[in-house]
Amino acid sequence: MNLGTPTRVEHQLTDKGYVPVYTTAVVEQPWGDYTATDHEVWATLFKRQREVLVGRASDEFLRTQEAMGMAPGHIPKFDELNRTLRKATGWELIGVEGLLPELTFFDHLANRRFPVTWWIRKPEQLDYLAEPDLFHDLFGHVPLLMNPVFADYMQAYGRGGVKAHGIGPEALVNLTRLYWYTVEFGLIRQDDGLRIYGSGIVSSKGESIHCLESAAPNRIGFDLERIMRTRYRIDTYQKTYFVIDSYEQLMDATRPDFTPIYTKLAQQDSIPAGTVLNTDTVFNRGTGEGWATDGDV
Ligand code: PHE
Ligand code: FE
Repeated sequence: MNLGTPTRVEHQLTDKGYVPVYTTAVVEQPWGDYTATDHEVWATLFKRQREVLVGRASDEFLRTQEAMGMAPGHIPKFDELNRTLRKATGWELIGVEGLLPELTFFDHLANRRFPVTWWIRKPEQLDYLAEPDLFHDLFGHVPLLMNPVFADYMQAYGRGGVKAHGIGPEALVNLTRLYWYTVEFGLIRQDDGLRIYGSGIVSSKGESIHCLESAAPNRIGFDLERIMRTRYRIDTYQKTYFVIDSYEQLMDATRPDFTPIYTKLAQQDSIPAGTVLNTDTVFNRGTGEGWATDGDV
């Protein structure tokens, strides 16, 4: 497999006019080059996570994943998924080598294109790898793009990202925390209990169990500005998970112009990942067991 990262300079239109950005090239999914081992890694992870996620992932995640026709048999072809996805919500998947420059990523989302890393982890990386791969991106992120409300949220996030990029690095930090605590590590409250919808969780067996069943982490009601001030973990399970009531709540809460919010938050300190405030709606106050004492980002 070619894991090289071809980059080129492109000009993108932002609210600062056209700016040059280094962009990781969009690649055609080299489906014929996947090895038998690649397909086996997909099958193993797929079956393992589907089992773990029954009763843990949100009903809507499980439903949309099935509706997409994702199955353990072999690594899905982006082209085939795209036929279903385009019809449902107008989103499409594009293949990429890996993480993109921020503005490039926002621009794709703003145009309803979701970048999916084309390569899959090695068998010895089933439980953890530091960067997103095909399993995380496809299994984790793509199903909810079939949901019209979530699909709109992701596009709005992309537009908001382009805007925040033009405002400055502090605004981007605030916005990135929102992505982290919703899209990547969000929980949702169903009538029958808390469920997972965040991609970073659904693609991890350990965290799928930990985030719902462990007494260690905080589980706190969604609060936009609070989340935008909260630091997070990139190398351990989260210390705090935020719980939405519905995807509509997410959409409604993020509809207002963030510009005055960024200005206001610039005057306030960030909140450590594990802190509980007396203004929080607490579903679970974490015991903090096993928490690292430093390393929040
Ligand atoms: N409303 C936000 C803004 O004005 C954009 C946004 C929407 C950000 C949805 C995140 C999610 O910047
Ligand atoms: Fe992700």
